Amino acid sequence: PTRIKKICCIGAGYVGGPTSAVIASKNPNIQVTVVDYNIERIEAWKTDDLPIYEPGLLDVVQAARDGDSTKRTPNLFFSTDVDRCIAEAELILLSVNTPTKSLGRGAGHASELSYLESAVRKIGEVAETNKIIVEKSTVPCRAADTLRDVLAATAKPGLHFEILSNPEFLAEGTAIPNLLNPDRILIGSLKTPRGLEAAQALAAVYGAWVDPDRIITINLYSSELAKLAANALLAQRISSVNALSAMCESVGADIDEVSYAIGLDKRIGSRMLKASVGFGGSCFRKDILSLAYIAESLHLFEVADYWRSIVDINEYQKDRFTRRIVRCLYNSLSGKTLAVFGFAYKKNTGDTRETAAITVIDNVLTEGANVRIYDPLVKESQIRQELNSTTVRLNCAEKQLTVCESAYEACTGADAIIILTEWDEFSNRDEPMRRDSGHGRKTDERAERKLDWTRVAELMRRPMFVFDGRNIVDAAALEELGFRIECIGKA
Ligand code: NAI
Repeated sequence: PTRIKKICCIGAGYVGGPTSAVIASKNPNIQVTVVDYNIERIEAWKTDDLPIYEPGLLDVVQAARDGDSTKRTPNLFFSTDVDRCIAEAELILLSVNTPTKSLGRGAGHASELSYLESAVRKIGEVAETNKIIVEKSTVPCRAADTLRDVLAATAKPGLHFEILSNPEFLAEGTAIPNLLNPDRILIGSLKTPRGLEAAQALAAVYGAWVDPDRIITINLYSSELAKLAANALLAQRISSVNALSAMCESVGADIDEVSYAIGLDKRIGSRMLKASVGFGGSCFRKDILSLAYIAESLHLFEVADYWRSIVDINEYQKDRFTRRIVRCLYNSLSGKTLAVFGFAYKKNTGDTRETAAITVIDNVLTEGANVRIYDPLVKESQIRQELNSTTVRLNCAEKQLTVCESAYEACTGADAIIILTEWDEFSNRDEPMRRDSGHGRKTDERAERKLDWTRVAELMRRPMFVFDGRNIVDAAALEELGFRIECIGKA
């Protein structure tokens, strides 16, 4: 079988960076180069202030990128010289973004494949040798056929390109443990001799650290669809629990108890059953919409409606949460101050794409509230940029918005706290502190900081409300301090 010596990963984002770092760290004999046209991102990957935050990432990057004085020579590189790196590699990982299309047919639903297409055109243009090309990005069914077609038209005659599907299942916030110990590695290929050989070559790269039982080789198109299906089912669990949470609030049940009871059933399992203000992140929404669009284009309209309803419930949940805030604050937010705790779409990431915070903040700004946001990781510029690009009304509401350096600053003079990200810092429960060795000292301190709720109570206006969009606080303990607590799925 082909032995891979050089890998080029196109796309230095949340998937390309961590995946390449782990592959390089586990395969000292393979040279891994991550390329991107985004110069700022590539330059940041060369420093210790990485462009993305993931617990444990910096250690893995440093080991492979900087080498180690005793035994390792560096084998992880970052570059903007896309052409050279493609030309040199035997295996190319495509980790470019595949967002929802914003223009033309399928806008708002279908996946935008233009980044993938342009990366593959580039491969066609510059390749002088055969390549194995790996779809790591999440793609619609049969995207491999599109890529093969582009290559057939652009590449030099006589070269062979084998396309594999190898979707990435890491979750942000736990990317490094997910990559180091994956539930499974899917490798989809054509069942031709060359297809199977390419699959074996990629399997050998993962074989450096993943148990062979967990490396699954399947049909190319099954592999593409399995990724969309996995995300749809994960999001479906969240929307199912969130739908139940609405019922809990009306019948006097407690969603945490209901989830616990359901999760004890081994057929169901206990994970991904936490009620919340709604899911965010760059993937769930886009992948479900893509799946529904594919179903629709196959004239499977009922199937499309089924998948779309998962997104509908998510929108409903965000709106429902805002309506509850307005109702509790005596039906007017005008002139009131709301402290927002957390802006990232979940804890342990700085990623804010599709975060539920955007919708909730947009809604309360519209109601005339003053909003003071604090997130332990996300920078002010990113918060403003995210709100400006998504929130039509923010331009008029600029004066209503303050981004704060601390939770205390955010809640000073506030009528209510809205918890939108489940950062450990905000919980008043006693959980074992996890040491975070991933991102330098500053983040270590951040990860260990715990809010002093007694001090918070001294800073707020009366009555003091807490709207816990993540069900992370111990409500009884806070009620003793004089807070009024509103949790998801609890009357
Ligand atoms: P990202 O937006 O963080 O990174 C993509 C990078 O690709 C960007 O830096 C962009 O500049 C670069 N790029 C785009 N076109 C390029 C080209 N032609 N040449 C060179 N560079 C190019 O995206 P992210 O989050 O890493 O996602 C990538 C793919 O992985 C998507 O398809 C996503 O659905 C999938 N995925 C994402 C996961 C996540 O947690 N973020 C998890 C699993 C899959």
